[in-house]
Amino acid sequence: MSNAVHAPRLAIALLAALALAACSQNTSGEPGHAEGPQASSSAGLPDGRVAIGEQLAIAKGKATGQSCVDCHGVEGNAPIDATYPKLGGQYADYLAHALQAYRSGDRQHALMSAQAAALTDQEISDLSAYFGSRPAQLRDLHGL
Ligand code: HEC
Repeated sequence: MSNAVHAPRLAIALLAALALAACSQNTSGEPGHAEGPQASSSAGLPDGRVAIGEQLAIAKGKATGQSCVDCHGVEGNAPIDATYPKLGGQYADYLAHALQAYRSGDRQHALMSAQAAALTDQEISDLSAYFGSRPAQLRDLHGL
């Protein structure tokens, strides 16, 4: 009987701890990235806008002089190298999470880390919404 009474309290305590953790990550945000939580999940990102994402996907990045489609190809489906991933039709949530991970350094790649470094939460959402809305030609890179 006592378990039945304590379980909800434990759940509430866990939720409170999670909420606190999310808030404290916010306060440590880097300059220019103040909009939204910097958690390791795409939850909490602003809504993605496909049309704006399309513009961002073809815009040359200031730091690298390259656009997303320069490497991932038209609609993210024609990568310039067979080992580069296709993005079209991938879950937007997955794409956003990957970009957040490159930005934070949790996921590192010589090319992609530089691409994601200056993206805002809104840009990550917009780019992810755009590539996620394109036709899917996803394939397994195993064996390449
Ligand atoms: C210079 C080439 C290059 C450019 C420019 C580039 N990418 Fe990438 N991208 C790559 C490569 C290579 C990988 C695979 C990296 C790895 O193995 O982690 C990748 C991986 C990704 C992934 C992870 C895909 C997955 O299936 O896990 C996402 C998302 C992504 N890129 C989005 C973008 C976006 C958005 C832009 C534009 C802001 C962009 N990329 C610009 C080369 C590039």
